[in-house]
Amino acid sequence: MEKNKKIKSIAVLCSGGDSPGMNCAIRSVVRTAISEGLEVYGIKRGYSGLLEGAIEKMDASSVGNIMQRGGTILQTSRCKEFHDAGTRKEAANILRRKKIDALVVIGGNGSYNGAFALHSEQDIPVIGIPGTIDNDIAGTDYTIGFDTAVQTAVEAVDKIRDTAHSHARTFIVEVMGRKSPAIALHVGVCTGAENVVFPNKEVDYDEIISDIKRGAKRGKNSSIVVVAEGEVPGLAYKIQENLFDKHKLKSHVCILGHIQRGGRPSPIDRFISSRMGYEAVKGLIAGNYSSAAAYVKGEVELVPLKDCLGKKAEQRPQAYELVKTLSI
Ligand code: F6P
Repeated sequence: MEKNKKIKSIAVLCSGGDSPGMNCAIRSVVRTAISEGLEVYGIKRGYSGLLEGAIEKMDASSVGNIMQRGGTILQTSRCKEFHDAGTRKEAANILRRKKIDALVVIGGNGSYNGAFALHSEQDIPVIGIPGTIDNDIAGTDYTIGFDTAVQTAVEAVDKIRDTAHSHARTFIVEVMGRKSPAIALHVGVCTGAENVVFPNKEVDYDEIISDIKRGAKRGKNSSIVVVAEGEVPGLAYKIQENLFDKHKLKSHVCILGHIQRGGRPSPIDRFISSRMGYEAVKGLIAGNYSSAAAYVKGEVELVPLKDCLGKKAEQRPQAYELVKTLSI
């Protein structure tokens, strides 16, 4: 889109896994757009809904009383068809026919890739808002929903610790994170776990056993091992089996699953997503046609979307070291 052509109408969608705080971001986008005199549309079910033309005009009341709700009022999807350039052309034509000048995409890595392609191939102005509980998007220190997901998981592990202590048991608690270690490591630090298993690090059974035994030696009678689910949920059961086969260690498994994706967003998630929605709309108006809202050193700012397409550089060593040092 030409730089001097003014944006008059925008649409917003959520894509990929939902995350607590997405509703606050939608509310912020809609109300900032209205304050700026723009028309604003909500697209249902992510890119799939865009292709189906599931697009509705929104007003200030469409986003009333949603801040405190988890999930997304627009719903979301993982749309495989959007990997195809022809499909993206179709999507751009739908936006043009509806006279929608720009698109706000709230989602994770896959959603950002789709948005970037839509801009580079079809010249549709796009702006991303990082929404995923995994906190794994490059270019931003934070993604919406992470704080709430960690809080949910920590509360659950605290409860598990109570029963683990009462029965002197070892629990293997599986948290979300198909490719991301972030939730597992944070939960590990915040719950005093003995060990954390996360993607791209081979499970070291000898180390897990020695960590558990070390605690037991000084009188600790319960242990927690936090496991990121990895590619296929249920990894915790495999670890349980191997710990028994290799070391005769009996353990219990608890898989937290999708409860981590739901629930009331924490104030941190509400605040950051409100700031991001606002900056996203202001950014589009100012002519940022391929950007993303990012949280950098405690501030929300706009960064080039292309800098956010990969996975975040990892902070594993520090967090893992912390778990190991503090659980002796
Ligand atoms: O959205 C991110 C995430 O929750 C990952 O942590 C998890 O591995 C994956 O999505 C699960 O996806 P789905 O809900 O599609 O099974």
